[in-house]
Amino acid sequence: METKKINRRNWIKTGILTAGGVFASPYLGFSKNSDLPLRLDQHGNAIYSPFFKEYLPESLREYPVLAAKLNANENPYGPSPMALEALKTAAAGGNRYAWKELFQLVDKIATFEGVEQKNIMMGPGSSDLLEKTAMALFMNGGNVVSADPAYMSLIRVAEAAGGSWKPVPLRDDWSHDLDAMEKAIDADTKLVYICNPNNPTGTITQHKDLVDFCARVSEKIPVFIDEAYLGFLEDGMKQSMVSLIGEGKDVIIARTFSKIHGMAGLRVGYAVAQEERLDKLQKITRAGMGISYPSVFAAMSAMDDTSFINESRERNAACRDYVYESLSKMNLEYVPSHTSFMIFPIEMEGKKFLEKMTAHKIGVRAFKFMGKNWCRVSMGTMDEMKLFTQALNTVLI
Ligand SMILES: Cc1ncc(COP(=O)(O)O)c(C=O)c1O
Repeated sequence: METKKINRRNWIKTGILTAGGVFASPYLGFSKNSDLPLRLDQHGNAIYSPFFKEYLPESLREYPVLAAKLNANENPYGPSPMALEALKTAAAGGNRYAWKELFQLVDKIATFEGVEQKNIMMGPGSSDLLEKTAMALFMNGGNVVSADPAYMSLIRVAEAAGGSWKPVPLRDDWSHDLDAMEKAIDADTKLVYICNPNNPTGTITQHKDLVDFCARVSEKIPVFIDEAYLGFLEDGMKQSMVSLIGEGKDVIIARTFSKIHGMAGLRVGYAVAQEERLDKLQKITRAGMGISYPSVFAAMSAMDDTSFINESRERNAACRDYVYESLSKMNLEYVPSHTSFMIFPIEMEGKKFLEKMTAHKIGVRAFKFMGKNWCRVSMGTMDEMKLFTQALNTVLI
């Protein structure tokens, strides 16, 4: 297969790269309605950093029914058959709080992660845990060091709570610039946030480099590692930073049932961290209360449904290959991805691109960074990806 892979070094050589990078709003079209301070330019596009903005659709409410919804990195195959069955059975218990059932889920997760129950904190999706961490740490100011682009959920709440963001551009190979991030830490730094694999780029930072970085840096500052997409790697669990918990390191690892388990709408996520760290977070939240009774059961069953997990991973990879090949045939470049989405540059202003794709009933995201416009497309079913490439062919070629 002939592919055109993008290396950031090439851009530096061609002078396209000015600085910075991409970035993703977790709020989609709701951004404008969010209470969080979102900087907008005169055209209503969100400005995330001096180098990075997102083209927001006019209003999500006015969105037409989509033939392929590829704008939120949802897993098109979920929930798993076992999770669905559990959900149906547990629905009748929806009049109860899930107190002891939540403990069962925590036990199961602790065993899976190889940690103790006291190291697990549950939340309604990992967004909640990212946001509550930001609230707990940045109420009295301080800064968060992260890549630019990064997933912005935690960062935007940190800013809203009174903190500031110290963005560090990704390296030429799209990995985190760990040396520069370490240098960016100052007396006001309260947290380092790392999303690996990263959203919106879909790229990874080498496991060994990250382990060394987290082990060293967490001696001074807590490090938050968002592993939402780790499940899409063949050897995902081996790439996790969870082993650092046993070594007593002050790291917070966030995971979600929204991606590989296909349960985005059921809202289950968790954090793995030291007990003392979780105690501090639990001072401002009982996040587990946010998970519905049926979702607790669905999560337990989803963990057991390994054939669904493997199938999701395989089908996702097949769709990625299909899109790589299709983009290459259209003479378009792309950034190879390790996740359930990918980015590629487009020769069209992002808002216009979104309008045209939406007219074809295809939902995607559009960003501007490094002086280029980008499309981020989530992997749907193969049929949806075919609709996507057909639309793209009409819109771009
Ligand atoms: C990197 C990353 N972290 C966290 C989340 C939040 O997911 P959830 O709140 O559904 O667990 C997302 C969602 O897209 C994400 O991309």
